[in-house]
Amino acid sequence: MTAHDIVLYGATGFAGQLVAKYLARHPEGSRFSWAIAGRNPDKLSALRTSLADAAPEIIVADTSDRPSIDAMVSKARVVVTTAGPYAEYGGDAVNARNVRRSLALSGRLPCSYAEGISVGAGLKAGWLWMSRGLGYFVGDPIPLSPKPGQGPPKWLKRAGKFRVALKATSASGEHAAMVDVQGRGDPGYLATSKILGEVALCLALGQQEAPRSGGVLTPALALGSVLRERLAAAEGGEFMQFGVLAET
Ligand SMILES: NC(=O)c1ccc[n+]([C@@H]2O[C@H](COP(=O)([O-])OP(=O)(O)OC[C@H]3O[C@@H](n4cnc5c(N)ncnc54)[C@H](OP(=O)(O)O)[C@@H]3O)[C@@H](O)[C@H]2O)c1
Repeated sequence: MTAHDIVLYGATGFAGQLVAKYLARHPEGSRFSWAIAGRNPDKLSALRTSLADAAPEIIVADTSDRPSIDAMVSKARVVVTTAGPYAEYGGDAVNARNVRRSLALSGRLPCSYAEGISVGAGLKAGWLWMSRGLGYFVGDPIPLSPKPGQGPPKWLKRAGKFRVALKATSASGEHAAMVDVQGRGDPGYLATSKILGEVALCLALGQQEAPRSGGVLTPALALGSVLRERLAAAEGGEFMQFGVLAET
């Protein structure tokens, strides 16, 4: 029997805690029920205590104990998994017998935060410049080889920004569109965790456009414009903005 709209598995990790904090203070909090899940009950209790007003149920489930994973999934309308390294542990909730709707934050192995921000010296320099602004900044350094539970420092999570231009062409080649997507917050962790939270809410609140077929889908294909609308509205419109640059 489904007990929760959303079960967040791997909630005790760096990314998982960010998703938990986002859900805990979400303005639509009264519209969904949720639980935090993981293998370590003490860490889960500490996380719940840190969530102040929210008090999600705790579910203990370990990937080495398959029945515990099946029991967790059977209680969930939507499973969000940030257990990782994803390639090793994240798939278990997705592959549980009673699959409903699972969202997985995937990362390649070997994966480190530093790799994500050092694609080319120009990008790295630009990134740090954007993050630090024009003034002098003294803050925690970026860990080059993050350990489990460690991500970017607070200042980078908050001061980071992202901006991408996307071009899509129809299969026939007849139509093309270029869009500009920008947002605030470090895209590797803080922004990603908010996007993951909104994807979960789309599914949990039944707001997705019906996908044309099943299987493993990207968020855009599965959720369509509903997700864009949620993201554009998140944090009073301050989080992400979408603009059409050209359309033919
Ligand atoms: N796509 C993206 O943009 C993006 C961004 C960030 C992260 N990621 C991916 O997200 C995943 C998590 O990253 P993170 O930085 O949050 O890592 P992390 O801080 O090391 O957290 C790992 C989480 O997985 C849990 N875990 C580890 N081994 C487990 C096992 N055997 N069974 C059950 N749970 C287990 C940990 O539980 P304990 O607390 O009990 O140790 C913890 O909750 C990684 O795969 C990473 O690549 C992707």
